[in-house]
Amino acid sequence: MSQSADLVTSSSVLQDRHSILKFTDVIKKYSSERGSIVALNGISLDVKEGEFLTIVGPSGCGKSTLLNILVGLETPSAGAVVLDGANTVDRKAVGYVMQNDNLYPWRTLRENVEFPLELRNIPAAERRRISARYLEKVHLADFADAYPYELSGGMRQRGNIIRALCFSPRILVMDEPFGPLDAQTRLLLQNLLLGLWAEEKKTVLFITHDLHEAIALGDRLVVLTARPGRIKSSHPIDIPRPRNIRHLHENAAYRALLSKVGDELAEEIQVQAGVH
Ligand SMILES: Nc1ncnc2c1ncn2[C@@H]1O[C@H](COP(=O)(O)OP(=O)(O)OP(=O)(O)O)[C@@H](O)[C@H]1O
Ligand SMILES: [Mg+2]
Repeated sequence: MSQSADLVTSSSVLQDRHSILKFTDVIKKYSSERGSIVALNGISLDVKEGEFLTIVGPSGCGKSTLLNILVGLETPSAGAVVLDGANTVDRKAVGYVMQNDNLYPWRTLRENVEFPLELRNIPAAERRRISARYLEKVHLADFADAYPYELSGGMRQRGNIIRALCFSPRILVMDEPFGPLDAQTRLLLQNLLLGLWAEEKKTVLFITHDLHEAIALGDRLVVLTARPGRIKSSHPIDIPRPRNIRHLHENAAYRALLSKVGDELAEEIQVQAGVH
């Protein structure tokens, strides 16, 4: 399949791709002195190689938990996660942009970006070459030697993203990466991410509260229920690429999906409100 075909088509292309990641009946219970909580209750999900999958669901429904299980920070209480046919997920194969910006304050931006490369024993000259290339891509070359406190929120987030990408992970996992940013910076980073994705062809799992963002970026959108999180629905996003995010409201498929999934999400948020 040619690169240009990949860029202009979307979920229909994925039908021919093989599955890279599979969650089967994943359950997660947390226990504490205050009792136990079921965060996830039977998640089964199949992700295709190269797919950009977006996930929405009410706050507290288990989205971060799902990603933490995938990267091995949490273990499932039951069920399995299989990456590339292996029952234990190789964490080295996953780049994780966490919900909170977590650059190390004592390292410069360049040293932060190079951190995963150090962990993989990449020689210094090669690390420098790779970090320079990625810093350039996200227009941060001039800030390579700055410390995180000297950067804006949007700059730190760009650093976070390239740190998760620079070691060529098979899968990029992002947990509300643009949450705290203003609308203009968010749009900039959304476009940047789509550009990087089109270049690198990664499989992406992207969590967001923002339904517009979920539809604008994804090939497929999965909606989770209020806690305990289950899969409520899954929607292919058949909007041609490249997408003009700022003008998506002019696209009928976008508006239809926004309305449909907006209703589904509102239902779940109501359920949740009843619970508390
Ligand atoms: N380490 C933990 N110990 C105990 N309970 C936890 C732990 N981590 C998460 N939980 C609980 O699991 C549930 C799901 O949490 P999670 O962080 O996955 O939600 P979320 O969907 O990511 O929410 P948000 O959209 O607000 O980020 C919550 O009720 C939370 O209190
Ligand atoms: Mg979360």
